Amino acid sequence: MKKILIVLLLLSFSFVLTGCKDDAIEEPIPEVNCDLFPDSDKCKDPVVIDTDPICLETNLDCIEEVEQLISNMNLLQKVSQMVQAERGNITPEQVKQYGIGSILSGGGSHPSAYNNTVDDWYEMYETYQDSALLSDSGIPIIYGIDAVHGNNNVYGATIFPHNIGLGAANDADLMYRIGMATAEEIKVTGISWTFAPALSVVQNISWGRTYEGFSENPSIHQNLTYDTIMGLQHYGVSANAKHYLGDGGTDNGQDQGNVIQDEETIRELHLAPYYEAVRAGADTIMISYSSINGDKMHGSDYWINDVLKDELGFEGFIISDWNAIHQLPGDFDDQIVASVNAGVDMLMEPYDWENTINDLFDAVLQNRISRDRIDDAVRRILTVKYNRGILDNPYDRLDEDDYFYTQEHQDLAREAVRKSLVLLRNENDVLPLSKSENVYLVGPGMDNVGYQSGGWTTYWQGNTNSDIGVGISILDAFTRELSQNGANVVSSMSQADTVVVVLTELPYSEGSGDNLSLTLTTGNSHSENIDALNIAIEAHNAGKTVVGILLSGRPLLLEDYLQYFDSFIAAWLPGSEGGNGISDVVFGDYDFTGKLSFTWPLNISQIGYTSNEENYDPNSVLYPFGYGLNYLN
Ligand code: BGC
Ligand code: BGC
Repeated sequence: MKKILIVLLLLSFSFVLTGCKDDAIEEPIPEVNCDLFPDSDKCKDPVVIDTDPICLETNLDCIEEVEQLISNMNLLQKVSQMVQAERGNITPEQVKQYGIGSILSGGGSHPSAYNNTVDDWYEMYETYQDSALLSDSGIPIIYGIDAVHGNNNVYGATIFPHNIGLGAANDADLMYRIGMATAEEIKVTGISWTFAPALSVVQNISWGRTYEGFSENPSIHQNLTYDTIMGLQHYGVSANAKHYLGDGGTDNGQDQGNVIQDEETIRELHLAPYYEAVRAGADTIMISYSSINGDKMHGSDYWINDVLKDELGFEGFIISDWNAIHQLPGDFDDQIVASVNAGVDMLMEPYDWENTINDLFDAVLQNRISRDRIDDAVRRILTVKYNRGILDNPYDRLDEDDYFYTQEHQDLAREAVRKSLVLLRNENDVLPLSKSENVYLVGPGMDNVGYQSGGWTTYWQGNTNSDIGVGISILDAFTRELSQNGANVVSSMSQADTVVVVLTELPYSEGSGDNLSLTLTTGNSHSENIDALNIAIEAHNAGKTVVGILLSGRPLLLEDYLQYFDSFIAAWLPGSEGGNGISDVVFGDYDFTGKLSFTWPLNISQIGYTSNEENYDPNSVLYPFGYGLNYLN
């Protein structure tokens, strides 16, 4: 049955986004120019709903329902709401026994197999939800998942470009639509919470999570954050801004490292996007593993309570990162006390959730955490559950046929790819290529949708076997375009005047992507890049036109190789529709519009040099922030 649960009449949007408060009418929905974007969902009629609208007109119902629940809960039930377990480590029976507040799927944590269907996912969700409703408190769980570029854990989902590419596109309306499409692909599984968007303002591309951030420059985050969150939450999925605060600013770009900066700089660079997240009414914010000047963020009363909750007025709930409180000083009970008193409302404890519930309970009995603090955390969590419709309609889901890997979503992802590509070099206007001339296509990235999607695809570290259930590789798309025009992708250099070389990094996520060398041939780069580069040199010397396409989660040092390429495209990690979007611009059906959201360094000593420098010299680097060629100009 086609069941549209989600959203609300346009009128109700602002109430939902701002939580249970009386003055909830605040932000109008951002305006879209409907002449320019007739297909934008904001230009269509509001989505029809067949569930009860939530928090309409007055939010008194919301307040009443949440307060009623809290007043009927005992301490154990309350602290259980504040804990999140990983699906692989908790049974439905335990969910019933403890009335735990939340469950997550870690990266690549599927119900039973990597290629589980949407229905398998829903069944798992439903089973846990059944158990939660049978618990003493009877409160439904909120289930969280890392849908960071589409609903990427689910086999066959539309995979959008990673954020680095979307930062190059820098198109707020596009972000709204991607948020919406992602929300739809999540809601087909029943789930209604994603640990996205990452708002990392990345200062050093050595960091393995560079691609999860939009840019080195917070101006891009300021442009994109609001719409990204609105897109998700308007369509029924709680957003989670992460990782607060300064994850992108660690020394040497070390994952989970230490930010060494004065407060003013930290505010200007790293706090800036969070104003937008709060303005958008983000339901949740995740704390960063990293430290600021030696102090772990998970214990920071100042940055969480004082700045985020009091100064910025964040009203949603705060979640810790995976096992992260274990890195605080002291025993586990001290770590729980420190983080909860610093303002963390829910503890992501994938393995130790049971101890967490017990220790949290004891800490309250010992007066180490006040009952008011517990009520505040539970109130925040239940309000989010109310606002996303989980309390009243825990089983809502969208119909797979209408909302999962639809043609509309594929077209949107393809548009995102086109807009994310940055043309770095185009000597003698060798691009666009003609569709009626043979092309010799080489390189380890030319036929692999897994590489093209990067980390957080099917598995936590990404998928190297290229089976993500869907997707169009560069080879697929080029073959289609050329064969429709009487030409072909050929298998030897002598058969073509143009050689297209697709270089790639191997997929990685988090710390395994930390890399201090960043060349095309070392670190996370594919070992076969070297053969492809040798072909580029040979082709160049033979007088062929040589076009380079780089699939990567960040700028890589091009060293002396650049001279052998007539044209060079930064394609980032374009996702499942990468082949289509790339062929759209390479063959000239569309022009390039993407601009670098990161400085492209000339050499290793420039890594860490960004457009945020006071005396930024765009001429000193290979390609500066904001750079990008196109066909017309
Ligand atoms: C990452 C988060 C992620 C969480 C859950 C952590 O390791 O830092 O970004 O949301 O795991 O998978
Ligand atoms: C999980 C990820 C998580 C990571 C943290 C992995 O096993 O799948 O979700 O972010 O561990 O280290």
